[in-house]
Amino acid sequence: MSEKNLIVDARDGVAVVTVNRPDKLNALNDRTMEELDAAFQGLADDPAVRGVILTGAGEKAFVAGADIGELSAQSPVQGQERSLRGQKVLDRIEGLGKPVIAAINGFALGGGCELALACHVRVAAEGARLGTPEVKLGIMCGYGGTQRLPRLVGRGRALEMLLTGEMVDAQEALRIGLVNRVVPKEKLLEESQSLLRKMLANGPLSLRFTLDAVARGLEMPLDQAQAHEATLFGLICTTEDMKEGTRAFLEKRPPRFQGR
Ligand code: COA
Repeated sequence: MSEKNLIVDARDGVAVVTVNRPDKLNALNDRTMEELDAAFQGLADDPAVRGVILTGAGEKAFVAGADIGELSAQSPVQGQERSLRGQKVLDRIEGLGKPVIAAINGFALGGGCELALACHVRVAAEGARLGTPEVKLGIMCGYGGTQRLPRLVGRGRALEMLLTGEMVDAQEALRIGLVNRVVPKEKLLEESQSLLRKMLANGPLSLRFTLDAVARGLEMPLDQAQAHEATLFGLICTTEDMKEGTRAFLEKRPPRFQGR
């Protein structure tokens, strides 16, 4: 499938989704957000796709933010609606139920940083730069960044980034836990694939329930979160994959998970 501002290339269980407006540093205009929404809905429904890598086209940028041209012309009501729409798209990505890795090939700024934050794991190319420069434009994060960034790197570090609007380089992003690893630029997709393949070797339902337990659980008090974990653990015990995984261990052979 190839849309105007998005390229989706699915093979061998992995979909590589590329934001494709390199002349605008892959800035997220409304059209691109709609395409992202539709693409991730399709990926959620496609049993052949077990994991996703999200990246940007071209040499310079992952995504350099929401489209500033569109932002500059919005009314307050349109601004609120744009923020709510964007939050839903990023929630859909985070709630995909299959691992999503952001392969950050350059600038990940504003909405681009927020998009990377909605992915489950972030791999950055050497030379990538991340930041939330919205305050420099007289606006603020509107796609969940004020919430996901402090949850990931801690309130103090998040507020430093959110309030200064300054970028951090890939090594600093690694140091503060904003990205999981930094790799040479030419190896970005290969390393992201290899990390994703390690996840996909495991039971698909184990992955889905673990993503759910972490995402929902972190928003609950500990006792409720642990009760939710226990419910999912009980549910996983009903699956064929649970029987297959434990039996394969005892029979000293690799498991053959079916996602059932
Ligand atoms: N929205 C719309 N267009 C954008 C954009 C954005 N967020 N970011 C970059 N572009 C466009 C530029 O306007 C330029 O278009 P043009 O060639 O038609 O003039 C093109 O992408 C290339 O960007 P340019 O600024 O010339 O590249 P650079 O290498 O000099 O600078 C950045 C790179 C990332 C530092 C700079 O583009 C930038 O600061 N972008 C905005 C980042 C931002 O504030 N994001 C948050 C938005 S809420």
